[in-house]
Amino acid sequence: MSKERILSGMRPTGMLHLGNLLGALDNWKKYQDQMECFFMVADWHALMSEYKNPKDLKKFTIECVKDWIAFGLDPEKSTIFIQSDVKEHLELAAIFGALTPIPWLERNPTYKEQLQELKDKDIFTYAFLGYPVLQAADILLYKATKVPVGNDQLPHLELTREIARRFNFLYKDVFPEPQPILTQMSRLMGLDNRKMSKSYGNMIALSETEEQIQTKVKTMVTDPARVRLKDPGHPDVCNVFAYHQIFNAKQVDEVRAWCEGATVGCTDCKAKVADQLVDLLKPAQEIRKELDSDEKKIEEILAAGAEKARKVAQKTIEEVKGLVGL
Ligand code: TRP
Ligand code: SF4
Repeated sequence: MSKERILSGMRPTGMLHLGNLLGALDNWKKYQDQMECFFMVADWHALMSEYKNPKDLKKFTIECVKDWIAFGLDPEKSTIFIQSDVKEHLELAAIFGALTPIPWLERNPTYKEQLQELKDKDIFTYAFLGYPVLQAADILLYKATKVPVGNDQLPHLELTREIARRFNFLYKDVFPEPQPILTQMSRLMGLDNRKMSKSYGNMIALSETEEQIQTKVKTMVTDPARVRLKDPGHPDVCNVFAYHQIFNAKQVDEVRAWCEGATVGCTDCKAKVADQLVDLLKPAQEIRKELDSDEKKIEEILAAGAEKARKVAQKTIEEVKGLVGL
Protein backbone atom coordinates (compact mmCIF):
# COMPACT_ATOMS: atom_id res chain seq x y z
CA MET A 1 0.00 0.00 0.00
CA SER A 2 1.32 3.45 -0.92
CA LYS A 3 1.70 6.29 1.55
CA GLU A 4 -0.99 8.29 -0.20
CA ARG A 5 -4.06 9.04 1.83
CA ILE A 6 -7.46 9.60 0.25
CA LEU A 7 -10.38 11.54 1.55
CA SER A 8 -13.65 12.00 -0.24
CA GLY A 9 -17.22 12.76 0.69
CA MET A 10 -20.78 12.89 -0.52
CA ARG A 11 -23.56 15.16 0.59
CA PRO A 12 -26.61 13.26 1.86
CA THR A 13 -29.19 15.29 -0.03
CA GLY A 14 -31.09 12.33 -1.51
CA MET A 15 -30.84 8.67 -2.34
CA LEU A 16 -27.72 7.60 -4.24
CA HIS A 17 -28.22 6.91 -7.92
CA LEU A 18 -26.52 5.24 -10.86
CA GLY A 19 -24.45 8.36 -11.52
CA ASN A 20 -22.99 8.16 -8.00
CA LEU A 21 -22.16 4.50 -8.60
CA LEU A 22 -20.28 5.04 -11.85
CA GLY A 23 -18.86 8.46 -10.99
CA ALA A 24 -17.68 7.73 -7.47
CA LEU A 25 -18.42 4.48 -5.68
CA ASP A 26 -16.99 2.09 -8.25
CA ASN A 27 -13.71 4.03 -8.12
CA TRP A 28 -13.63 4.44 -4.36
CA LYS A 29 -13.99 0.70 -4.06
CA LYS A 30 -10.77 0.22 -6.04
CA TYR A 31 -8.79 2.78 -4.06
CA GLN A 32 -9.40 0.84 -0.88
CA ASP A 33 -6.76 -1.70 -1.88
CA GLN A 34 -4.25 0.89 -3.06
CA MET A 35 -4.31 3.67 -0.48
CA GLU A 36 -5.44 4.55 2.99
CA CYS A 37 -9.02 5.77 2.56
CA PHE A 38 -11.35 8.05 4.50
CA PHE A 39 -14.92 8.26 3.22
CA MET A 40 -17.19 10.76 4.84
CA VAL A 41 -20.87 11.58 4.67
CA ALA A 42 -20.78 15.36 4.49
CA ASP A 43 -23.89 16.15 6.51
CA TRP A 44 -22.69 19.63 7.51
CA HIS A 45 -22.34 20.40 3.82
CA ALA A 46 -25.81 19.04 3.13
CA LEU A 47 -27.23 21.23 5.87
CA MET A 48 -25.95 24.29 4.02
CA SER A 49 -28.46 23.81 1.21
CA GLU A 50 -31.07 21.59 2.89
CA TYR A 51 -31.52 23.36 6.20
CA LYS A 52 -35.23 23.74 5.54
CA ASN A 53 -35.77 19.94 5.51
CA PRO A 54 -34.47 18.75 8.87
CA LYS A 55 -36.38 15.48 8.74
CA ASP A 56 -34.54 14.14 5.72
CA LEU A 57 -30.95 14.78 6.66
CA LYS A 58 -30.44 11.92 9.11
CA LYS A 59 -32.39 9.51 6.93
CA PHE A 60 -30.35 10.25 3.81
CA THR A 61 -27.15 10.08 5.84
CA ILE A 62 -27.88 6.52 6.97
CA GLU A 63 -29.20 5.47 3.54
CA CYS A 64 -26.02 6.77 1.99
CA VAL A 65 -23.85 4.66 4.27
CA LYS A 66 -25.97 1.59 3.56
CA ASP A 67 -25.48 2.04 -0.17
CA TRP A 68 -21.76 2.56 0.27
CA ILE A 69 -21.39 -0.70 2.12
CA ALA A 70 -23.79 -2.62 -0.09
CA PHE A 71 -21.84 -1.51 -3.16
CA GLY A 72 -18.47 -2.50 -1.83
CA LEU A 73 -16.95 -0.01 0.60
CA ASP A 74 -15.43 -2.11 3.32
CA PRO A 75 -15.26 -0.74 6.87
CA GLU A 76 -12.37 -3.10 7.54
CA LYS A 77 -10.31 -1.43 4.84
CA SER A 78 -11.59 2.15 4.89
CA THR A 79 -12.56 4.63 7.54
CA ILE A 80 -16.25 5.34 6.96
CA PHE A 81 -17.74 8.10 9.06
CA ILE A 82 -20.16 10.98 9.38
CA GLN A 83 -18.67 14.45 9.28
CA SER A 84 -20.74 15.80 12.18
CA ASP A 85 -19.50 12.94 14.41
CA VAL A 86 -16.02 14.45 14.32
CA LYS A 87 -16.26 17.94 15.79
CA GLU A 88 -12.70 18.78 14.79
CA HIS A 89 -13.96 19.53 11.26
CA LEU A 90 -15.64 22.66 12.59
CA GLU A 91 -12.66 23.68 14.67
CA LEU A 92 -10.31 23.51 11.75
CA ALA A 93 -12.85 25.28 9.53
CA ALA A 94 -13.02 28.12 12.05
CA ILE A 95 -9.25 28.43 12.09
CA PHE A 96 -9.10 28.41 8.29
CA GLY A 97 -11.92 30.96 8.33
CA ALA A 98 -9.62 33.35 10.13
CA LEU A 99 -7.05 33.29 7.34
CA THR A 100 -9.21 32.94 4.23
CA PRO A 101 -9.88 36.22 2.40
CA ILE A 102 -13.52 36.68 1.43
CA PRO A 103 -12.68 37.46 -2.23
CA TRP A 104 -11.24 33.94 -2.62
CA LEU A 105 -14.69 32.63 -1.76
CA GLU A 106 -16.70 35.13 -3.75
CA ARG A 107 -14.85 34.44 -6.97
CA ASN A 108 -15.30 30.66 -6.68
CA PRO A 109 -17.06 29.62 -9.91
CA THR A 110 -18.93 26.73 -8.29
CA TYR A 111 -20.36 29.14 -5.74
CA LYS A 112 -21.52 31.58 -8.39
CA GLU A 113 -23.03 28.76 -10.43
CA GLN A 114 -24.91 27.30 -7.50
CA LEU A 115 -26.36 30.64 -6.50
CA GLN A 116 -27.79 30.76 -10.02
CA GLU A 117 -28.91 27.15 -10.22
CA LEU A 118 -30.37 26.54 -6.78
CA LYS A 119 -32.62 29.59 -6.84
CA ASP A 120 -35.32 27.82 -4.82
CA LYS A 121 -32.93 27.04 -1.97
CA ASP A 122 -32.15 30.35 -0.22
CA ILE A 123 -28.44 29.72 -0.04
CA PHE A 124 -27.36 33.33 0.10
CA THR A 125 -26.00 32.56 3.54
CA TYR A 126 -22.89 32.93 5.61
CA ALA A 127 -22.27 29.17 5.76
CA PHE A 128 -22.76 28.61 2.04
CA LEU A 129 -20.15 31.19 1.14
CA GLY A 130 -17.78 29.33 3.45
CA TYR A 131 -18.60 25.93 1.97
CA PRO A 132 -15.09 25.43 0.53
CA VAL A 133 -13.47 26.44 3.82
CA LEU A 134 -15.19 23.53 5.53
CA GLN A 135 -14.27 21.29 2.63
CA ALA A 136 -10.63 22.31 2.99
CA ALA A 137 -10.88 21.42 6.67
CA ASP A 138 -12.36 17.99 5.77
CA ILE A 139 -9.41 17.23 3.57
CA LEU A 140 -6.54 18.79 5.50
CA LEU A 141 -7.68 17.51 8.88
CA TYR A 142 -6.53 14.10 7.66
CA LYS A 143 -3.62 15.49 5.64
CA ALA A 144 -5.06 13.70 2.65
CA THR A 145 -2.87 13.77 -0.44
CA LYS A 146 -5.44 12.62 -2.98
CA VAL A 147 -9.06 13.63 -3.37
CA PRO A 148 -11.26 11.84 -5.88
CA VAL A 149 -13.75 14.38 -7.21
CA GLY A 150 -15.73 15.30 -10.28
CA ASN A 151 -14.97 18.33 -12.43
CA ASP A 152 -17.39 20.58 -10.57
CA GLN A 153 -15.30 20.21 -7.41
CA LEU A 154 -11.98 21.31 -8.89
CA PRO A 155 -12.36 24.93 -7.78
CA HIS A 156 -12.93 23.71 -4.23
CA LEU A 157 -9.79 21.64 -4.35
CA GLU A 158 -7.82 24.58 -5.68
CA LEU A 159 -9.04 26.62 -2.72
CA THR A 160 -8.02 23.81 -0.39
CA ARG A 161 -4.51 24.04 -1.80
CA GLU A 162 -4.48 27.82 -1.46
CA ILE A 163 -5.59 27.59 2.16
CA ALA A 164 -2.94 24.93 2.86
CA ARG A 165 -0.25 27.16 1.29
CA ARG A 166 -1.37 30.17 3.27
CA PHE A 167 -1.35 28.24 6.51
CA ASN A 168 2.04 26.69 5.79
CA PHE A 169 3.44 30.13 4.91
CA LEU A 170 2.06 31.86 8.02
CA TYR A 171 2.97 29.21 10.60
CA LYS A 172 4.75 26.04 9.63
CA ASP A 173 4.81 23.48 6.87
CA VAL A 174 2.03 21.31 8.24
CA PHE A 175 -0.26 20.48 5.36
CA PRO A 176 0.38 18.63 2.10
CA GLU A 177 -1.20 20.18 -0.99
CA PRO A 178 -3.73 17.57 -1.99
CA GLN A 179 -4.10 16.52 -5.62
CA PRO A 180 -7.40 15.66 -7.29
CA ILE A 181 -8.04 12.27 -8.79
CA LEU A 182 -10.37 13.31 -11.54
CA THR A 183 -13.10 10.77 -11.91
CA GLN A 184 -13.89 10.20 -15.55
CA MET A 185 -17.08 12.09 -16.20
CA SER A 186 -19.47 9.26 -16.77
CA ARG A 187 -21.33 9.23 -20.07
CA LEU A 188 -24.43 8.36 -18.15
CA MET A 189 -27.24 10.84 -18.59
CA GLY A 190 -30.48 11.00 -16.66
CA LEU A 191 -33.73 9.50 -17.95
CA ASP A 192 -34.53 12.77 -19.74
CA ASN A 193 -31.05 13.01 -21.28
CA ARG A 194 -29.94 15.81 -18.96
CA LYS A 195 -27.25 15.29 -16.32
CA MET A 196 -28.40 12.68 -13.79
CA SER A 197 -29.14 14.64 -10.67
CA LYS A 198 -31.20 14.47 -7.54
CA SER A 199 -32.65 17.88 -8.20
CA TYR A 200 -33.85 17.07 -11.74
CA GLY A 201 -35.82 13.97 -10.64
CA ASN A 202 -34.36 12.05 -13.60
CA MET A 203 -32.39 9.46 -11.73
CA ILE A 204 -32.52 5.75 -11.05
CA ALA A 205 -31.70 5.21 -7.40
CA LEU A 206 -29.47 2.33 -6.39
CA SER A 207 -32.17 1.06 -4.07
CA GLU A 208 -34.93 0.95 -6.66
CA THR A 209 -37.00 -2.21 -7.21
CA GLU A 210 -37.27 -4.15 -10.44
CA GLU A 211 -40.74 -2.69 -11.14
CA GLN A 212 -39.57 0.84 -10.48
CA ILE A 213 -36.61 0.40 -12.79
CA GLN A 214 -38.68 -1.10 -15.60
CA THR A 215 -41.25 1.70 -15.27
CA LYS A 216 -38.63 4.43 -15.26
CA VAL A 217 -36.71 3.06 -18.22
CA LYS A 218 -39.99 2.94 -20.18
CA THR A 219 -40.28 6.70 -19.85
CA MET A 220 -36.93 7.31 -21.54
CA VAL A 221 -36.98 9.29 -24.77
CA THR A 222 -35.73 7.35 -27.79
CA ASP A 223 -34.76 8.30 -31.33
CA PRO A 224 -37.78 10.35 -32.53
CA ALA A 225 -37.33 8.87 -36.03
CA ARG A 226 -38.46 5.49 -34.72
CA VAL A 227 -42.19 5.95 -34.54
CA ARG A 228 -43.23 2.49 -35.69
CA LEU A 229 -41.41 -0.80 -35.39
CA LYS A 230 -40.60 -0.73 -39.11
CA ASP A 231 -38.90 2.68 -38.93
CA PRO A 232 -35.13 2.22 -38.70
CA GLY A 233 -33.53 4.04 -35.75
CA HIS A 234 -30.25 5.82 -35.07
CA PRO A 235 -28.76 4.35 -31.94
CA ASP A 236 -26.13 7.07 -31.65
CA VAL A 237 -28.72 9.72 -30.87
CA CYS A 238 -30.64 7.50 -28.46
CA ASN A 239 -30.10 7.68 -24.72
CA VAL A 240 -31.32 4.10 -24.32
CA PHE A 241 -28.48 2.99 -26.58
CA ALA A 242 -26.03 4.91 -24.39
CA TYR A 243 -27.33 2.88 -21.46
CA HIS A 244 -26.74 -0.31 -23.47
CA GLN A 245 -23.17 0.81 -24.09
CA ILE A 246 -22.58 1.25 -20.39
CA PHE A 247 -24.62 -1.52 -18.83
CA ASN A 248 -24.96 -4.09 -21.61
CA ALA A 249 -21.63 -3.74 -23.38
CA LYS A 250 -21.49 -7.29 -24.65
CA GLN A 251 -24.70 -6.87 -26.63
CA VAL A 252 -24.16 -3.44 -28.21
CA ASP A 253 -23.53 -4.72 -31.73
CA GLU A 254 -26.71 -6.69 -31.60
CA VAL A 255 -28.69 -3.74 -30.26
CA ARG A 256 -27.34 -1.52 -33.03
CA ALA A 257 -28.32 -4.10 -35.62
CA TRP A 258 -31.86 -4.48 -34.36
CA CYS A 259 -32.34 -0.73 -34.08
CA GLU A 260 -30.91 0.16 -37.50
CA GLY A 261 -32.51 -2.89 -39.10
CA ALA A 262 -35.87 -2.15 -37.47
CA THR A 263 -36.26 -5.69 -36.20
CA VAL A 264 -36.81 -5.07 -32.51
CA GLY A 265 -38.97 -2.29 -31.08
CA CYS A 266 -38.01 0.35 -28.56
CA THR A 267 -40.18 -1.19 -25.86
CA ASP A 268 -38.25 -4.46 -26.00
CA CYS A 269 -34.97 -2.63 -26.35
CA LYS A 270 -35.72 -0.73 -23.14
CA ALA A 271 -36.85 -3.84 -21.29
CA LYS A 272 -33.52 -5.47 -22.14
CA VAL A 273 -31.45 -2.67 -20.69
CA ALA A 274 -33.69 -2.47 -17.64
CA ASP A 275 -33.07 -6.20 -17.08
CA GLN A 276 -29.35 -5.51 -17.08
CA LEU A 277 -29.74 -2.74 -14.52
CA VAL A 278 -31.80 -4.99 -12.30
CA ASP A 279 -29.12 -7.70 -12.47
CA LEU A 280 -26.37 -5.19 -11.78
CA LEU A 281 -28.06 -3.80 -8.68
CA LYS A 282 -29.45 -7.06 -7.32
CA PRO A 283 -26.45 -8.43 -5.37
CA ALA A 284 -25.91 -5.12 -3.59
CA GLN A 285 -29.60 -4.79 -2.88
CA GLU A 286 -29.51 -8.19 -1.17
CA ILE A 287 -26.78 -6.92 1.13
CA ARG A 288 -28.79 -3.78 1.65
CA LYS A 289 -31.79 -5.80 2.77
CA GLU A 290 -29.68 -7.41 5.46
CA LEU A 291 -28.48 -3.99 6.57
CA ASP A 292 -32.06 -2.72 6.67
CA SER A 293 -32.98 -5.44 9.13
CA ASP A 294 -29.93 -4.77 11.30
CA GLU A 295 -29.74 -1.04 12.02
CA LYS A 296 -27.30 -1.75 14.84
CA LYS A 297 -24.66 -2.90 12.38
CA ILE A 298 -24.56 0.50 10.66
CA GLU A 299 -24.42 2.26 14.00
CA GLU A 300 -21.45 0.14 15.00
CA ILE A 301 -19.64 0.74 11.74
CA LEU A 302 -20.15 4.48 12.08
CA ALA A 303 -19.11 4.56 15.71
CA ALA A 304 -15.90 2.70 14.89
CA GLY A 305 -15.29 4.92 11.86
CA ALA A 306 -15.79 8.09 13.87
CA GLU A 307 -13.36 6.87 16.48
CA LYS A 308 -10.69 6.11 13.91
CA ALA A 309 -11.24 9.44 12.20
CA ARG A 310 -11.15 11.34 15.48
CA LYS A 311 -7.75 9.92 16.38
CA VAL A 312 -6.20 11.45 13.29
CA ALA A 313 -8.28 14.61 13.55
CA GLN A 314 -7.36 15.33 17.15
CA LYS A 315 -3.68 15.06 16.42
CA THR A 316 -3.91 17.60 13.62
CA ILE A 317 -6.02 19.98 15.70
CA GLU A 318 -3.61 19.86 18.58
CA GLU A 319 -0.73 20.69 16.30
CA VAL A 320 -2.64 23.48 14.56
CA LYS A 321 -4.03 25.11 17.69
CA GLY A 322 -0.54 25.34 19.14
CA LEU A 323 0.74 27.01 15.99
CA VAL A 324 -1.99 29.65 15.80
CA GLY A 325 -1.65 30.43 19.49
CA LEU A 326 -4.89 28.96 20.86
N1 TRP B 1 -18.50 19.19 -1.92
C1 TRP B 1 -18.52 17.77 -2.23
C2 TRP B 1 -19.66 17.51 -3.22
O1 TRP B 1 -20.61 18.24 -3.26
C3 TRP B 1 -18.71 16.92 -1.01
C4 TRP B 1 -17.56 17.04 -0.08
C5 TRP B 1 -17.56 17.59 1.17
C6 TRP B 1 -16.24 16.60 -0.32
N2 TRP B 1 -16.35 17.51 1.73
C7 TRP B 1 -15.50 16.91 0.85
C8 TRP B 1 -15.62 15.95 -1.40
C9 TRP B 1 -14.14 16.62 0.93
C10 TRP B 1 -14.25 15.67 -1.32
C11 TRP B 1 -13.52 16.01 -0.16
O2 TRP B 1 -19.58 16.56 -3.95
FE1 SF4 C 1 -33.16 3.57 -28.93
FE2 SF4 C 1 -33.30 0.94 -28.72
FE3 SF4 C 1 -35.30 2.33 -29.82
FE4 SF4 C 1 -33.01 2.10 -31.10
S1 SF4 C 1 -34.39 0.43 -30.58
S2 SF4 C 1 -34.19 3.98 -30.86
S3 SF4 C 1 -31.54 2.11 -29.43
S4 SF4 C 1 -34.61 2.42 -27.71
